[in-house]
Amino acid sequence: MNGWKHICSLEDIPVLGARIVRRSGLPDIALFRNGKNQVFALEDQCPHKKGPLSQGIVTADAVTCPLHGWKIRLESGQAAEPDVGCVPHYPVRIETGEIFIHF
Ligand code: FES
Repeated sequence: MNGWKHICSLEDIPVLGARIVRRSGLPDIALFRNGKNQVFALEDQCPHKKGPLSQGIVTADAVTCPLHGWKIRLESGQAAEPDVGCVPHYPVRIETGEIFIHF
């Protein structure tokens, strides 16, 4: 079933960190929080060789894959040049400190 799903509170995601959202029969989603309390949702698989992005280093607008260091844009899921690739990303809504993802 598609639609907005309540996931957690903003405080449940560490600043410059991530939290994993498990989905039955589908790839996990990684929820990232940057230093401005913006939250982004990407599939938890690097477009290079499926490294776990949720374990990467988070900056203001990207996460660095822990396996080979590709930088993936948090907003679009696109790999930063010179690398090429894209991981699915999902809309995020924050309402009174509660996080919802649309998938
Ligand atoms: S698997 Fe992410 S950079 Fe290689």
